[in-house]
Amino acid sequence: MAAAPSSLASSHLSPIAAVSTPAVPHQLRIGCSRRRAQRIVAMAGSGKFFVGGNWKCNGTKDSISKLVSELNAATLETDVDVVVAPPFIYIDQVKNSLTGRIEVSAQNVWIGKGGAYTGEISAEQLVDIGCQWVILGHSERRHIIGENDEFIGKKAAYALSQNVKVIACIGELLEEREAGKTFDVCFRQMKAFADSISNWADVVIAYEPVWAIGTGKVATPEQAQEVHAAVRNWLKTNISPDVASSTRIIYGGSVNAANCAELAKKEDIDGFLVGGASLKGPDFATIINSVTAKKVAA
Ligand code: PGA
Repeated sequence: MAAAPSSLASSHLSPIAAVSTPAVPHQLRIGCSRRRAQRIVAMAGSGKFFVGGNWKCNGTKDSISKLVSELNAATLETDVDVVVAPPFIYIDQVKNSLTGRIEVSAQNVWIGKGGAYTGEISAEQLVDIGCQWVILGHSERRHIIGENDEFIGKKAAYALSQNVKVIACIGELLEEREAGKTFDVCFRQMKAFADSISNWADVVIAYEPVWAIGTGKVATPEQAQEVHAAVRNWLKTNISPDVASSTRIIYGGSVNAANCAELAKKEDIDGFLVGGASLKGPDFATIINSVTAKKVAA
């Protein structure tokens, strides 16, 4: 991604309070059972903590072999779903060398059945090599490659129809946040997914503010929490209370080993989608293990 805009360099981001839609009132929050609340701190959803590593267009056979060795050697908390997304051409190498504890995702997929689509990879082919997940709607594909909401929604529907699970990304540009349109953008992107998706069981939502991706400018825990709570409420209103509770809403954008624990403590943050820091095995393991920041003594 491009370097952080200079307005970010001084690091005063426009506060989410400036966003046009009012904050989600407490009484609209999706609660969890009292018994669960005693076991887990600040967990509004009922889904398992989820951490994805998006390797983007990085790596060589050698560097990926080293990263896989680091991940295989890491001690990971058990109550976390972990997924890594290598570039297509290394998926097979990773599948053949990575511990089964970690699942594998693609970073993109074709919109329908394979055939005469030069340069594309189909959902059927992902299934064929044992790849269970795909990241869709990532801001780099929306804003650099030019994929639009409808195209992304249809990709999600087709992938799900082939039993490929979807990490569905949403998030606003800096200028959209500064114009008070954060919720409008996120809800519009959610609606495009919802228009195509009928079964949410295999969907994880990743809120990734574009200004935070690859810039080193992580959203504050409060900024992330406010959008996550609003997205969960959107699911409650537009899909169902059950889907709102069970769907993981993970945060992405400059998450690292040092900032993950504070973010993980927020009640609507159900995990992370990690770019740069997922290329370092020990750092990625620390982020996975930040699930412990949510726990209290029983
Ligand atoms: P980053 O990327 O962690 O390098 O900011 C996150 C993402 O793009 O998913």
